[in-house]
Amino acid sequence: MDDTTIALVTGANKGIGLEVARLLARAGVTVLLGARDAGRGGAAVATLRAEDLEAVPLPLDVTDPASVAAAAARIGAEHGRLDILVNNAGVLVGWGRPSDLSVQDVRQAYETNVFGVVAVTNAMLPLLRRSNAGRIVNVSSSMGSLTRLAAPDGGIPMMAYSSSKAALNGLTVAYAADLRDTTIKVNSADPGYCATDLNRHTGPRTAAQGAAIVARLALLDAAGPTGQFHDDDGQVPW
Ligand SMILES: NC(=O)c1ccc[n+]([C@@H]2O[C@H](COP(=O)([O-])OP(=O)(O)OC[C@H]3O[C@@H](n4cnc5c(N)ncnc54)[C@H](OP(=O)(O)O)[C@@H]3O)[C@@H](O)[C@H]2O)c1
Repeated sequence: MDDTTIALVTGANKGIGLEVARLLARAGVTVLLGARDAGRGGAAVATLRAEDLEAVPLPLDVTDPASVAAAAARIGAEHGRLDILVNNAGVLVGWGRPSDLSVQDVRQAYETNVFGVVAVTNAMLPLLRRSNAGRIVNVSSSMGSLTRLAAPDGGIPMMAYSSSKAALNGLTVAYAADLRDTTIKVNSADPGYCATDLNRHTGPRTAAQGAAIVARLALLDAAGPTGQFHDDDGQVPW
């Protein structure tokens, strides 16, 4: 078993995920770059390798059970364990008002943002348990903060996306409690509003800025928190 830190970042071929991969690789971590499309994943790996960063392509569609199982089997065979899991892959569907959304819109958001995270986390947990210091970071959003959404100035939520991120925060709390007696820490990160394909590049922050809090939670030392929700400025209310 090698002694470098091994990280899996899902949906890492572009946007915040690619920047998280870059930051972790710069920190000396071997990054398994998850991508559902082999071509897009390979291109992202080539970009990092051109910067002398250590990245390995890993085909992974978080909504496809066979793909998730194959990814876990490959990591087990090639590395024997996993130290960091960043559940970054996400979709934004349902831009309309809550009353305009269909069950299908909501289900589509949950398939990737919630059920995909459960599938990947459960598949990777046996490998994370073999790490000395496992870290799981769920890439959430301030739009998943029920406290902020329920505030009088909170606006009308994008229901499918917002509630999927609130559910994702629920997963963070649940897994953190389940794993409290282990060395595995589980936290949610809010990258802030970043210009990426997800939001048609409307965000004022860069993907690299958004990736910083994700990488920081991925690299927490033993004294770091678990079961919390953080952005660049500190804790975010659930
Ligand atoms: N941008 C923001 O302002 C913002 C704010 C808060 C939170 N976030 C969260 O940050 C994360 C990354 O988003 P982003 O803004 O970087 O968006 P993005 O540029 O659209 O990237 C999303 C990534 O997820 C991948 N993905 C989607 N469905 C997948 C699936 N079924 N299996 C595997 N990968 C899948 C995409 O792959 P393809 O290239 O193949 O589509 C892409 O690599 C998401 O969880 C998002 O909700 C973003």
